[in-house]
Amino acid sequence: MRGMLAADPGTTETDFDALAATVLARCDALAQCTDEPGRITRTFLSPAMESCYRLVQEWMRDAGLTVGFDRAGNIRGHYGAVSEAAPRLVIGSHLDSVPNAGRYDGVLGVMLGIALVEALGGRRLGFGVEVIGFSDEEGVRYGLPFIGSRAATGTLLAPHLARKDAAGVAMYAALDAFGATHADVADPMLDPRARAYLEFHIEQGPVLEHTGLPLGVVETIAGQSRAKVTFCGRSGHAGTTPMFLRRDALAAAAEWLTTVESAASRMPGLVATTGRIACEPDAANVIPGLVRCSLDVRHADDAIRRGAVEDFLRTAEAIGDRREIEVEHVVEYEQAAVGLDRSLIALADKAVSDVGVSPRHMTSGAGHDAMIIAAHIPSVMIFLRSPGGISHHPEEAVYVEDVAAALRAGMGFLNRFEAHIGQFSESERKSCTT
Ligand code: GLV
Ligand code: MN
Ligand code: MN
Repeated sequence: MRGMLAADPGTTETDFDALAATVLARCDALAQCTDEPGRITRTFLSPAMESCYRLVQEWMRDAGLTVGFDRAGNIRGHYGAVSEAAPRLVIGSHLDSVPNAGRYDGVLGVMLGIALVEALGGRRLGFGVEVIGFSDEEGVRYGLPFIGSRAATGTLLAPHLARKDAAGVAMYAALDAFGATHADVADPMLDPRARAYLEFHIEQGPVLEHTGLPLGVVETIAGQSRAKVTFCGRSGHAGTTPMFLRRDALAAAAEWLTTVESAASRMPGLVATTGRIACEPDAANVIPGLVRCSLDVRHADDAIRRGAVEDFLRTAEAIGDRREIEVEHVVEYEQAAVGLDRSLIALADKAVSDVGVSPRHMTSGAGHDAMIIAAHIPSVMIFLRSPGGISHHPEEAVYVEDVAAALRAGMGFLNRFEAHIGQFSESERKSCTT
């Protein structure tokens, strides 16, 4: 692919179309890197992730990036600027997946970053570009999302490293096995010259499709809470125990789930999900004695989300009291909603408008690496339309023409970013002298 494109900003439409096809072919190739043959599942530092990295490394090198891995196993490609001291723009997303995933969630953002550098055709900018493929965003292996971006920003801490996966392998041991040095993983690893973060991602929802737009600009990423709720009743014989004498933990959990579903449906913008449920002893002829449920709650307004979680947990207790079921709960994770950077949103708006798309600002219900990075450097996201709004599912898709539009908008973003840094430095200079 290298050298296929003209080196000037006037790269032709046809070139971007061809590059978009390459981006999709690369997503297809990465879909073959899976821990579970027959479906896409790629978790933090798994053997499938290692084969994924081999391909990404090759494409990064072909695009003119210098490739390395950091202490958390993130793959990082550097494209130097006209000068060593020049600022850096980071373009990234994640390379891990949920179980039985689609092929674009995360992966597409990394492939677009590489393709944009490729499209520069060796042209040096007044800023460097770093493309990062984060080692984990979904949190499947360690039940902790954003391992890669947390580590990049110095917020992956000792208790996180001590977490064990389902096979009992601690995170630090997985890092050792990968060859990454975890000892100082808590030091921030973002380049001190990094001035901004740009993430392309499929929307994973139906809004852009509904409005007929190929691209959207993300304004806010909804906050999320995750909790574990345990219902402890009494198991017993399914044939001999009369209904009125039962303490059925699964029936209590089912009542709670449907109550949560109706309550969340009444609150605009609120989503609540139980995606994981384990029942013991898990036999057809035994009354369920113990049920463990996950709870995931999201809203763009943190107060509404926290209030809803409290409400849902109180409801579980009330159902338990009525049914003589003990209920325990623990909120394991809370991530506040994140507003993305206003000046980068304006820049993304221009880049999107330049390619004939009217900029639409969106709230992301899904979590993204940008959520973590935004606390450290100004960040922005550009969404690509998701056909059918489908994601976290093998039928996840994207239109090749939308990928071409994202590439053209991305190139416009790069071309405008230099002036943007100039304005930024000017305002910094002014604020230092006033
Ligand atoms: C990440 O995909 C999430 O929002 O759960
Ligand atoms: Mn995802
Ligand atoms: Mn994602």
